[in-house]
Amino acid sequence: MIVLGIESTAHTFGVGIVEDRPPHIIVDRRVNYTPSKGGIHPREASLFFMSNASRVLKDALIEAGLTINDVDGIAVALGPGLGPCLRVGATVARVLASYLKKPLIPVNHAVAHIEVGRLLTGFKDPLVVYLSGGNTMILAFSDGRYRIFGETLDIALGNFIDTLVREVGLAPPYVVGGTHKLDLCAEVGGSFINLPYVVKGLDVSFSGILTAALRAFREGKYDLKDICYSVREVAYSAIAEVVERGLMHTKKGELLVVGGVAASKALRSKFEVVSRLRGVKLGVVDPQYAVDNGVMIAWTGLLMLRHGITVEPEKAYIRQRWRPDGVDVPWMG
Ligand code: FE2
Repeated sequence: MIVLGIESTAHTFGVGIVEDRPPHIIVDRRVNYTPSKGGIHPREASLFFMSNASRVLKDALIEAGLTINDVDGIAVALGPGLGPCLRVGATVARVLASYLKKPLIPVNHAVAHIEVGRLLTGFKDPLVVYLSGGNTMILAFSDGRYRIFGETLDIALGNFIDTLVREVGLAPPYVVGGTHKLDLCAEVGGSFINLPYVVKGLDVSFSGILTAALRAFREGKYDLKDICYSVREVAYSAIAEVVERGLMHTKKGELLVVGGVAASKALRSKFEVVSRLRGVKLGVVDPQYAVDNGVMIAWTGLLMLRHGITVEPEKAYIRQRWRPDGVDVPWMG
């Protein structure tokens, strides 16, 4: 079975093609929208996607040596994400599926991060920590679905550190040589400043740290490098704490880190400590597939298609706030 997947939830328009016997990635094509200043502007990103969509699709098929008729299903990320961006991928997928009379598969973007992570690490039933620009969640499979055991009560970790480095004048760009500007700045700091540390059960909160860090910066009493260092220690330790609690609560034997923020070496070293202490296996998804991509949508679409989960093109609505615990995952049974 061959499935083509389309990703367009935020800053990436990606097309991936996968096959299941044996499971492998045939092709991975994508373009990234990079704002010249500020954060993602959804309408500008969607215009960028529209002008690149057909080229990315065509390049993917040429590289794969396939025609669109060789594909058994069209998978698309219908949410969660930014409305104008989601609509581009959804429109392309609906047109392809209805014109070619191929099954259309409605994929949840968060579930897709987990599934490509399981594919690449070989993990069976992990505790998942999903860290990206827009999401911070602790998930695990239970009773037919990936349940959310913990999450941020306000802003996501990625959004938090992006906002901070932008407000203090370090970004854009947010990442240099694969390392986030917060981590680069923190490397040269070392004096710890007291910042709010908020953990409630398995939930975290970052808005208080953001406010306090920006106030410290504007008052000019502290070095920026020490502010970065303290933010990194407080925020990453909070994540490590809820992950450890999640492992104890769910008794899972594997810890899987997915999402764009998973690339941080400083964060990874904290997860290494936690997994060693709890005696669990640690899997961090390779940065290439930890960030948004079409392959993860294609692979999850393939798992869904095997279980007959499809949608009629006219009913394939986008869902900007579609939570992963709203999705049945029968392949995990
Ligand atoms: Fe993502």
